[in-house]
This record gives sequence, structure tokens and C-alpha cells, in this order.
Amino acid sequence: MIDPTLQAVLSSGASFLLVTVLFAIVFSLCKLTKKPGSRTTSRALANHNSSLSSITIDESAYFDPSLSRISMSELVIATRNFASDGIIGDGSFGLVYKARLSNGVTVAVKKLSEDAFQGLREFKAEMETLGNIRHGNLVKMLGYCVSGADRMLIYEFIEKGCLDQWLHDTSTEGAPAWSSSMVREPLGWETRIKIIKGVANGLSFLHTLDKPIVHRDIKSSNVLLDSEFEAHIADFGLARRMDEWHSHVSTQVAGTMGYMPPEYKDGVMAATVKADVYSFGILMLEVATGRRPSWPIKIEEGKEGGLIEWARRIVAKERQLQMIDASMSKEGLREAEVREYFRIACLCTNDTSRDRPYMGEVVKLLNQLST
Ligand SMILES: Nc1ncnc2c1ncn2[C@@H]1O[C@H](COP(=O)(O)OP(=O)(O)OP(=O)(O)O)[C@@H](O)[C@H]1O
Ligand SMILES: *[C@@H]1O[C@H](CO)[C@@H](O)[C@H](O)[C@H]1NC(C)=O
Ligand SMILES: *[C@@H]1O[C@H](CO)[C@@H](O)[C@H](O)[C@H]1NC(C)=O
Ligand SMILES: [Mg+2]
Repeated sequence: MIDPTLQAVLSSGASFLLVTVLFAIVFSLCKLTKKPGSRTTSRALANHNSSLSSITIDESAYFDPSLSRISMSELVIATRNFASDGIIGDGSFGLVYKARLSNGVTVAVKKLSEDAFQGLREFKAEMETLGNIRHGNLVKMLGYCVSGADRMLIYEFIEKGCLDQWLHDTSTEGAPAWSSSMVREPLGWETRIKIIKGVANGLSFLHTLDKPIVHRDIKSSNVLLDSEFEAHIADFGLARRMDEWHSHVSTQVAGTMGYMPPEYKDGVMAATVKADVYSFGILMLEVATGRRPSWPIKIEEGKEGGLIEWARRIVAKERQLQMIDASMSKEGLREAEVREYFRIACLCTNDTSRDRPYMGEVVKLLNQLST
């Protein structure tokens, strides 16, 4: 028989021991889970006062494959496991998500489709290069993330979205107050000039790098607008990679209907800076007229043509003002400036690539535009 007092002492001692052991286990578990990555990750970003401009590609090394589990889990949380309501775009490389990182910074995550970018080493090298390119008119790549077959590109989020929507998806009517965030007033002439100048600057910068980058897909959906309506070119440096991977399967060139230079139709596949100049000229026409380059326009009775044929005809008749986007306010519009604008657009869209100016010259011409 055990003495009841001894039994009480023994059982309380045992439960004390049990609680202590449990506590110790829980404590060490907490320490363990906190240790790797996730803390350093948020600190690396938090250091910078949520200022996107100070995140360099070196610091985004936490997107490195060796840490991919951590960065991917952060992305999974930030995109709520790539929830479909976070999708803001669906382009040729894959889906784009709007995501909020744990430090509060909002980013755009481009989830590349599986067949894009096969080789890991090439992918990393390419992204390091692109991540180091900085210019006020280019969308910044903040990092990338590799996990198995998944490849993600992380970009700064550009507030007002793409130019495409600002040209073709505007409301002229007074929209109800509750939808104020969705309202896009038609852009004014000054703003359109500012955007075109920004795109010209960004392109000129890409074309004059030590290793020039040809964009290959200049179009209004690849021009993003920030809160000041400053233009930021998106997706530079991606088309080339896509092309190399698909060249053995198809002969399709990178580019979008309506923006492609005539030499592409003749089977010229090599990407040149002059091809970008052509697409830029088309973009100029689109921005001023508000017409989609891929849509045919009636250029005379019973005859349809492209935006460029239509524009050339009207320029020849010196009726440039008639081409201006009907939804735009014509206030303060100077005819001489409009004529010069269309002259530059026609220079850029010359059928012969040799006769097109370089982007540097286009920048100069545009800078002389507004006095
Ligand atoms: N950094 C970003 N900030 C804000 N919105 C973005 C950003 N990147 C992309 N988007 C949005 O996602 C849309 C889709 O982009 P995406 O590049 O995937 O498609 P696209 O430009 O139409 O086609 P392509 O793949 O040929 O470039 C853009 O038009 C834009 O509205
Ligand atoms: C963060 O903000 C402080 C004060 O607000 C400033 O002194 C410091 O330079 C900022 N750091 C960075 C990296 O921007
Ligand atoms: C292209 O440029 C050449 C040389 O400046 C010019 O003669 C020709 O008319 C231009 N063609 C078009 C279609 O603009
Ligand atoms: Mg794009």
C-alpha cells in the first residue's frame, strides 16, 4: 500500500514534469520555425521603408532557388495561393497577379507558363541582367522566384495599369459615384504627349545599352501608367527568350498584330531596333487617334485598311486634326503640333526599316514638339 500523501506528492510532481517538458517542446518548436528565411526576408524588405526603388536585385537574392521554398511560400500567401480574383492580366507568357507582400509592398507577379524559359542557368542569368536595368520609363523587376518547374517574375506594381485600357476602355459619361475607382476619363493631349515621350525615352535607353535590348512587343498593353501618368514599359527582354525556345517548334515571331513591321511579313525574323521603332510609330498613331491598330478602318468607299494606311492618306490631305480621338477634349490643341506629331509617327512607320529614325532621333524630335 502507498501512503496517500506520498501518492499526492508523486502525482503532482509528475504533472509538473509533464507541463515543463511540454512547455520546453513548444518553446523550441517556436524557435525552430522562426529561424530560417522568413524573418530575414521580411527584414530585407522592411529595411527600405517600403520604398520599392531601393530594392535591388542583390537583395532579392532571397528569391534565389536555394531559398525558393521560402520565397514561394511568401508568394503563395501574398497571392492567396494564386487566387483567380487576384489575376490582373493574362498575356502570352502567363498570368499576372496583384499581390501584397508581408511587408506591405504591392507587387505584380508574373507566373510564367511552363514551357517558357527552360534552362535554369540561362533563366537566372537573363533575369539578373533584366533586374539590374533601371530607368524611369521602364517597369522595375524586383526579383524572380524558381520552384521546380514554376518561374515567377516579381515587378513593381504600376498604379494606373496599362495604357491600352486608358485608350480603349474609358467612360465619357458621368459614372455613378460608387464606382469612382473604375472611372477612366479620356486622356488629354498633354498627357498623351507625356506618355509618348516617356515610351520613347525608355525605348531609346534599351536600344543604346552596351548590349542593346530590342523589345519586340511594343504595344499599348505593354505600357503601364503610374499615378502621375508617367509611362513605364513592361515586358522588355522577355520576347527574345520566348522566341529562342519556340524557334525550333514554330516560325511565329514575337509581336502583336497591327504593330508588326512589314519586314516580318516578308519572313525577316531577326529582331532589330528598327522593328521597335515601327511598333512605336503605330503606338503613336493609336495614342492620338484612340483607334486599335489591329482593327481595320474604312479608308474609302468599299475599301478597308490598317491604321497606318488610313493615317497616311489623311496626312497627305493635311486633315490631321480629323484623326484625333473623338473622345478627347480639343481644348488648347495646336494644329502645327498635331501635324508634327503625325509626321514623326509616319517617319517611324516607314515601310523600309533603313528609312526609319533611331529612337534617339525620335526623342529629339518629340522634345521639340511642345514649346
Ligand atoms: N507591373 C504591373 N503593374 C500593374 N499592372 C500590371 C503590371 N504588369 C502587368 N500588369 C497588368 O497585367 C496586364 C497583362 O499583362 P501581360 O504582360 O501578361 O499581358 P499583355 O501585355 O496583354 O500581353 P503580353 O504577354 O504580350 O505582354 C497588363 O496589361 C496590365 O494591366
Ligand atoms: C528610411 O526612412 C528614414 C527616415 O524616415 C530615412 O532617414 C532613411 O534614409 C530611409 N531609408 C531608406 C533605405 O530609404
Ligand atoms: C520612306 O522614307 C523615304 C525616304 O525618306 C521616303 O521617300 C518614302 O516616301 C517613305 N515612305 C513612306 C511610306 O513613308
Ligand atoms: Mg505585357
